[in-house]
Amino acid sequence: MSKDEVIKVLLIEDEDFDMRRVENTLRPYSDRITILDLVSDGKSAIELLEKKKYLYDVVIMDFQIAGGLRGEQLIKKIKDCDPYVQIIVITKMTINITDYEFAHRLIEAGAFWYCTKYPGDIENYIYQPTDFILSIINAYERKKLLRDKQKSNQKLNRNVEDLLANKKIIGDSETAVRMRSQIEKYSKSNVPILITGSSGTGKELIAYNLHYNGPRKYENFVPINCGGIPDALIESELFGYEKGAFTGAEKSKPGLFEIANNGTIFLDEISELPLSAQVKLLRVLQEGEVEKIGRTEKVKVDVRVISATNRNLEDEIRDKKFREDLYYRLNVVPIQVPRLAERKDDIPLLIENFMNEFALDMGREKPFLEDETMKILTEYEWPGNVRELKNLVQRLLFIDENVITPQLVRGALSIRPSSATINYNDSVNFSSDGESLPLKEMEKIFRTKYFKYIRNHSDSDSEAAKKLGLAPSNFYRMSKELGLK
Ligand SMILES: Nc1ncnc2c1ncn2[C@@H]1O[C@H](COP(=O)(O)OP(=O)(O)OP(=O)(O)O)[C@@H](O)[C@H]1O
Ligand SMILES: [Mg+2]
Repeated sequence: MSKDEVIKVLLIEDEDFDMRRVENTLRPYSDRITILDLVSDGKSAIELLEKKKYLYDVVIMDFQIAGGLRGEQLIKKIKDCDPYVQIIVITKMTINITDYEFAHRLIEAGAFWYCTKYPGDIENYIYQPTDFILSIINAYERKKLLRDKQKSNQKLNRNVEDLLANKKIIGDSETAVRMRSQIEKYSKSNVPILITGSSGTGKELIAYNLHYNGPRKYENFVPINCGGIPDALIESELFGYEKGAFTGAEKSKPGLFEIANNGTIFLDEISELPLSAQVKLLRVLQEGEVEKIGRTEKVKVDVRVISATNRNLEDEIRDKKFREDLYYRLNVVPIQVPRLAERKDDIPLLIENFMNEFALDMGREKPFLEDETMKILTEYEWPGNVRELKNLVQRLLFIDENVITPQLVRGALSIRPSSATINYNDSVNFSSDGESLPLKEMEKIFRTKYFKYIRNHSDSDSEAAKKLGLAPSNFYRMSKELGLK
């Protein structure tokens, strides 16, 4: 403890003689330890503790005092009042030093330490002074430690609360209520969860809520988009490698599973995981161990796995693109997220919330929606689901109008985000800065524009694939190659 800290003591003692002996024992250390208050019965002690919440560091109490409230019962009451305060019990019971049973009962009740008083013929001290002082200092250190721990937990809790406040799952439809209660239930356990649903329905949001509402909330939540990493790199990303494992491996690299240790890994677009990585992932799930590239021993990991997909994995299994055994491992508990069009009840509340959020961000007033406007918005099919709705609200707020009329909304809806930047009718420039382009590059430009156009005018990937005359898997692969996924 630092020099200017003074330990504040509440003394509970009903005999003047013993009270003086405690004071005498502490006197030489009065600059470090001070008896702030003195009471002679349990009830007054509790009243004081209630009144001066968290003020005392240490309570020194005589075990046998007058009044009904004393002994273990009093210890428990004190701890209920202030769980941080440390209690030292002095007892004159003629107990044997080896009476562990008695000591154990005191400690169980919440006492920090206890000592037996000196016999009555020793007038100056209640107990061996240095031992007595030392135990008070130790008690104080313990209190500080508990307080600090509590404070940092509070801070962490506040951080988690802040994080969650921005990630609320909004909606009052039956579906939204069900999803929230599923999250509440599943977040407490470790079961692998597979979240399925169309793009923009809120799968990642759900994964996030599962992690931050559960016991792993202070650990890492590691999202990875399995479709966003080149096949050749995915295994080293997930499982890491040792220095020298291959040319160019100058340092060892922890895999995402190691980074997520004790926390959660979120495998987004799981259907995109190459088959070789699927085999390895299955092994990690079965054995709880990661095989790092270039390392013989395995690394133990404890990771919760949540995965998500907007594809039908059963189709993928049939097409031999996804391992059935891995599917069963991941899909212990499924959460299906319906399209927004199937829970239209949520639309007004989502609009309201997004309006509030963006208006606050932009420092502007929330605009007013005419009834007819709301009708258009609830009748619309929302192929891009909640994400599309959120983007639309943001665009509407950029139009600096205080009333959102049906015309404004119709206008905003016909310019969907990406079709606004790509216009199918744009003529393709046959040259770039006067240079003619190789056919392959020109083809890519054309394909990109055409793919975007068709996707923007389709409700789903499979519809777009059909319009283009492609198998859905080819559509997906080609979109990825063009950088559209
Ligand atoms: N119920 C909801 N309440 C509030 N915001 C939501 C809700 N559902 C989705 N969102 C918001 O919509 C956007 C899209 O959600 P998210 O990224 O979770 O969708 P997704 O299903 O993972 O989409 P994708 O398949 O395209 O990755 C995010 O900004 C998210 O916060
Ligand atoms: Mg997502």
